[in-house]
Amino acid sequence: MTSQDVRKQFLDFFASKGHLIVPSAPIVLKDDPTLMFNNSGMAQFKEYFLGNGTPKSTRIADTQKCLRVSGKHNDLEDVGFDTYHHTMFEMLGNWSFGDYFKKEAINWAWELLTEVYKIPKENLYVSVFEGNPDENVPFDQEAWDIWKELIDEDRIILGNKKDNFWEMGDQGPCGPCSEIHVDIRSAEEKALVSGKSLVNNDHPQVVEIWNNVFMEFNRKADGSLEKLPAKHVDTGMGFERLCMALQGKTSNYDTDVFMPLIEKVEQITGLKYTSNEVLNISEEQNKTNIAIRVVVDHVRAVAFAIADGQLPSNTGAGYVIRRILRRAIRYGFTFLNTKEPFINQLVAVLANQMGEFFPEIKSQQQLVINVIREEEASFLRTLDQGLQLLENVVAETKGSTVSGTKAFELYDTFGFPIDLTALILREKGFELDEAGFNAAMQEQKNRSRAASEVSTEDWSVLIPGNVETFVGYDQSESDVKITRIRKVDSKKDGVLYQIVLDNTPFYPEGGGQVGDKGLLVSANETIEIIDTKKENNLILHFAKKLPENVNAGFIAKVNQDLRSLSSRNHSATHLMHQALRSILGTHVEQKGSLVNPNYLRFDFSHFAKMTETELQQVEDFVNARIQEQLPLVERRNIPFAQAVQEGAMALFGEKYGDEVRAIKFGESMELCGGIHVKNTAEIWHFKIVSEGAVAAGIRRIEAITSDAVKAHFASYENTLNEVKSALKNPQDILKAVHSMQEENAKLAKQIEALVKDKVKNLKTSLIAEIQEINGVQFLAKLVDLNPEGAKDLAYELGNLGNNLFLVLATADEEKPMLTCYVSKELVAQKNLNAGQVVRELGKFIQGGGGGQPFFATAGGKNVAGIQQALDKAIEFVK
Ligand code: ALA
Repeated sequence: MTSQDVRKQFLDFFASKGHLIVPSAPIVLKDDPTLMFNNSGMAQFKEYFLGNGTPKSTRIADTQKCLRVSGKHNDLEDVGFDTYHHTMFEMLGNWSFGDYFKKEAINWAWELLTEVYKIPKENLYVSVFEGNPDENVPFDQEAWDIWKELIDEDRIILGNKKDNFWEMGDQGPCGPCSEIHVDIRSAEEKALVSGKSLVNNDHPQVVEIWNNVFMEFNRKADGSLEKLPAKHVDTGMGFERLCMALQGKTSNYDTDVFMPLIEKVEQITGLKYTSNEVLNISEEQNKTNIAIRVVVDHVRAVAFAIADGQLPSNTGAGYVIRRILRRAIRYGFTFLNTKEPFINQLVAVLANQMGEFFPEIKSQQQLVINVIREEEASFLRTLDQGLQLLENVVAETKGSTVSGTKAFELYDTFGFPIDLTALILREKGFELDEAGFNAAMQEQKNRSRAASEVSTEDWSVLIPGNVETFVGYDQSESDVKITRIRKVDSKKDGVLYQIVLDNTPFYPEGGGQVGDKGLLVSANETIEIIDTKKENNLILHFAKKLPENVNAGFIAKVNQDLRSLSSRNHSATHLMHQALRSILGTHVEQKGSLVNPNYLRFDFSHFAKMTETELQQVEDFVNARIQEQLPLVERRNIPFAQAVQEGAMALFGEKYGDEVRAIKFGESMELCGGIHVKNTAEIWHFKIVSEGAVAAGIRRIEAITSDAVKAHFASYENTLNEVKSALKNPQDILKAVHSMQEENAKLAKQIEALVKDKVKNLKTSLIAEIQEINGVQFLAKLVDLNPEGAKDLAYELGNLGNNLFLVLATADEEKPMLTCYVSKELVAQKNLNAGQVVRELGKFIQGGGGGQPFFATAGGKNVAGIQQALDKAIEFVK
């Protein structure tokens, strides 16, 4: 059974049980500050469990791209070393939102595994929660009784809180769970050791494949459990492990999910991977295998994250992605001998394999390749540099132990991996001071933890069960009640309060547009709202203080001036997007966007720097649409498919509902939740202020509209007026500047000629001053020349004969400068070096410099030190 079939049968099975099949949510989460990546199938449904919002159906199933590389669920460091953990994996899941519970969930899981997939019952074990008195959660008798009807009792195992009570994070929905484990060992092995004793014991062939969680509780910030309003089912089956079991393999990597990627690595590196069936492999081969597993695992995580819009970067989710990719590059570098970018070549294989089910990887293929290739090239340069620096560190090391602080510097500043440092040091016969390294690392962690500490209190709910409605498309003011409040304390922002309203006109940050600011006004008080953000389905209004009377009625008032400026920038962004696609081509896709009252920033895929003409064309295009005074055509709640069919632009990595909102200005049509102008005329004018690169194949434009354009032109006019007045108000400024430039060029020529004359005269008088000391022709003198003159003079004198050691000082425009000339003979015979001379003497004029052994200069700050420098010069020849 191919992996494609495995996936399809799962979805078909649950469709036949009345489940709505939905697409995977993007791997990168946008509206959940507690989680960077989707780490389980249920993450996108979290709010439904908590009772905030209603799902499209009470029964849903899907396959979800998951990433477990940060937070509570983090498998990164295990990946490669075993055969069944991954950074990115697919989680097959079925959900009941207050619909069916344990009986159906367990029976269907059993039916699918044993009757559809036909896994022999004697290969399966199940676990049930044993209960936990501290948490006041009893033994799961109900699950036990259901299982007893399906499987021999001695195949049911009791599990503790660690294994059988599932929690998404430190806070949030949770509950007891029942896991299904599969034993894929050979008959001989099974006869020797019972499978039951290996469940939950890290045996690579007795592994959990499916977890059925019975969501009943919410873990609160204070650690206590509260009952959820309804009972739900949340299940997750590891797709790659299931494929392993169904394809008769003993390693996930031996299935058709990974083999095509492995074969490509073999082809590129000329190395061989050995399947898990091969026994007694050499230490060397084991290392190769680990490295290949790391590479083929990590490329999936990185490629899908990039396809969903998360570029590698230095912060947040982008940094996690960069680290995963770097881990793969480094394993390749050390164990597969890959010194050139190669991981990007795997993307085509991946797109071929998974593109049918996950179209984003196909349509974003070229971009993903470019970004990965560029990251690889840059990290390989870093590794190269790091190797050099490591050489220096080793050279400076006395004894045989290399300082942990130095190794940490390499790691911290250059991203040079510590295990690579240790490995290289071992090869050179040195040891690494690991304790020192760990201490430095810990210190840094403490610093950053302290800086990012956030404590979030539990919600205090004033009006339960209310589902907040957003009225901001039609209103900027609304009568509201507060439904819940929460206090958040962070190092970064101090104490803030998050307020949720029963309805709100405040636009929460999203789609690039910043959140609204404004006021909450009651009869007796006014509270300032400083920002608005979304957290899953809730709209959070941020305030520095709470009203005295939180139960009062308020008018929520959006700051219209700021919102109106943002909306102009947002609508201009749509027009620019259209312009870019029409002028540069339809390969242009939005990769990032920021819209605030001051300006707009837009990242998009394009392979080359834009020319001046192209930028002008884009500006003209947008300004033409502004002049056409195109009215906003807003369509709410149209089916997604219909909108796309009509030509609306949808973005990869965005999560769209079945019903979407489309924003149209003339021919521009985008799916968008943002706030827009009613007519493009409101934008007044559009002006690009910069264009540049953000990553391989990704360009960034910053632009301004309306008031900012007025300010921009006003500031230009000001500068121009100042220039004009500095030029004494000529009729034609440009002509005045040109004639000034010509005049300047003429003067420069004259000065050059004069200096030449001066050099000639000086030369004659200086020859007489040359002294002979120890067989060296020596002169050190302050001359009234500019630096170029001093250089000419030095060469002129140098040409006269051999054995000259000359130091000239100048103080042109109060800038002291030393020029040293040493005849080639002296460099060779007396070991004199002009570079060294100016470095030494430069100290007197508080400066530095350098050059070649026969000619060097040093500039400084201290004119008063010139004489001392000249006096000192003689010591070089004495
Ligand atoms: N949410 C459960 C898990 O991730 C199914 O294991």
